[in-house]
Amino acid sequence: MTASYEITDHDYDVVVVGAGGAGLRATLGAAQAGLKTACVTKVFPTRSHTVAAQGGISASLGNMGEDNWRWHMYDTVKGSDWLGDQDAIEYLCKNAPAAVYELEHWGVPFSRTDEGKIYQRAFGGMTRNFGEGPIQRTCAAADRTGHAMLHTLYGQSVKQRAEFFIEYFALDLIMDEEGACRGLMAWRLDDGSIHRFNARMVVLATGGYGRAYFSCTSAHTCTGDGNAMVLRAGLALQDMEFVQFHPTGIYGAGVLITEGVRGEGGYLTNSQGERFMERYAPSAKDLASRDVVSRAMTIEIREGRGVGPRKDHIHLNLNHLDPKIIHERLPGISESARIFAGVDVTKEPIPVLPTVHYNMGGIPTNFHGEVVTKRGDDADAVVPGLMAIGEAACVSVHGANRLGSNSLIDLVVFGRAAGLRCGEVVKANEASRPLPKGAGDEALARLDRFRHAKGSTPTAELRAKMQRVMQEDCAVFRTGETLDEGRKRIADVYAGLPDIGVTDRTLVWNTDLVETLEFDNLIAQAIVTMEGAANRKESRGAHAREDFPDRDDANWMKHTAAWFDNGKATLDYRPVHTYTLTDEIGYIEPKKRVY
Ligand code: FUM
Repeated sequence: MTASYEITDHDYDVVVVGAGGAGLRATLGAAQAGLKTACVTKVFPTRSHTVAAQGGISASLGNMGEDNWRWHMYDTVKGSDWLGDQDAIEYLCKNAPAAVYELEHWGVPFSRTDEGKIYQRAFGGMTRNFGEGPIQRTCAAADRTGHAMLHTLYGQSVKQRAEFFIEYFALDLIMDEEGACRGLMAWRLDDGSIHRFNARMVVLATGGYGRAYFSCTSAHTCTGDGNAMVLRAGLALQDMEFVQFHPTGIYGAGVLITEGVRGEGGYLTNSQGERFMERYAPSAKDLASRDVVSRAMTIEIREGRGVGPRKDHIHLNLNHLDPKIIHERLPGISESARIFAGVDVTKEPIPVLPTVHYNMGGIPTNFHGEVVTKRGDDADAVVPGLMAIGEAACVSVHGANRLGSNSLIDLVVFGRAAGLRCGEVVKANEASRPLPKGAGDEALARLDRFRHAKGSTPTAELRAKMQRVMQEDCAVFRTGETLDEGRKRIADVYAGLPDIGVTDRTLVWNTDLVETLEFDNLIAQAIVTMEGAANRKESRGAHAREDFPDRDDANWMKHTAAWFDNGKATLDYRPVHTYTLTDEIGYIEPKKRVY
């Protein structure tokens, strides 16, 4: 049964979807460029998931000793296990310091050194002089950096007169017959009305899809809605098999304990009280990259050296640190540890476990934020009218593994780049083109289908099954066997969709319907993630195959592109950019990755 919906039409130069760090920075940039800009967001802007980012934002400011963007670039390329596109990584690292100073001038209350400079702490994989030893490169506002950034960026966007559509759920993109994006359909949650945005540019900043897993540091809202809209538009997602596990999620709760704890001198121990990271990463130790630390912790647990009655987690120690330092620089995690683990961090270790934290994969873009797709011989053809930034995007600067604190800088550098690009390619107040006939019909048919779903399976039940499958079969370590099993199990979950039952038929605050649409978004991403992982027969960064333990540059230094149709994933591959943007730095040749 298809209901007829009354539609409210809107017309904007730019519509940004999502109001996290990337979305707000792009909104602000597009508005500054004189464009009529709307930001459509599922939650109130300052509740976007960026608010949960703790430890900091990387930039080679050199406030704590010499630093150089080329060193930052080297670390990022190595961190990516040579899957990152080096032109984009050069853009990121070179533009990072200016992006941080811009935030400072807009009012982000960074922590300070004694001389009043922005305080920077050590983070995993960040080194001086092309890998020589740890460096303090991560700019911090105590352990609430994302919170500080988000509030500042929201204030600045409002000041630029960007218009906000708050608690609007994005349903689908409006695409035309030539494959260009022409706008967006959205559902306003508080009054149930339906909205159609005609836009010269849609910028997806919808974040990651951590909630495809059972235990993650991501907010409940992290359902990759933009990624799924891209799949439904017939476009590919890239490198979805690369899912980052953060070493220190609180055991049992999944809540993040920042890597900044180890940056300030904290360390991990096993049941024998041993600082085991010395065996796995002799130089960087606890400040090795996240994939390395998460694997080491998993091995310790598997080999019987986990802590606790079940020997199934690890201890993070910071009780040796000066309580004044903890109070000043790590107040937030002290509170989280008390609330979620019942631990006083000045006296006891925090029980931790590798926990899903970040998606390196996402919507493929160039370094301007324009969505790219393989068309004929052109692997990097731009999709007109569509951009993606932040965790939703795969630029790709993080490749197979992201370094901690490179996410916040990605948000603002590429959010800014997208705003600048909008200023170049969109003419302000240009008369809008009429939308294609029937624009939005498919989105509404999908909404209607789920709204009237009368099956016997509650969405929460199917979602829990999906989350278990992803957690068990697409984990820190993978094998052909677990992934094949995972493919079957996830296909079974998908087969349960026609029997889903939504209890409430209204469109006003229908959280069951929201969760069902989100589940439909998540399951598509889970399927392409599993398929990409099963097909990649090598180990690289966060994708650790026990049956293919080595990196295989000859066959696998390439990006996975994954399409989704009716429950099935189709894969193809795109070349990694083995060139830099300028001759200020040459291509960094692959080598063995040791920390
Ligand atoms: O550990 C953290 O503070 C997380 C930072 C990040 O993911 O970049």
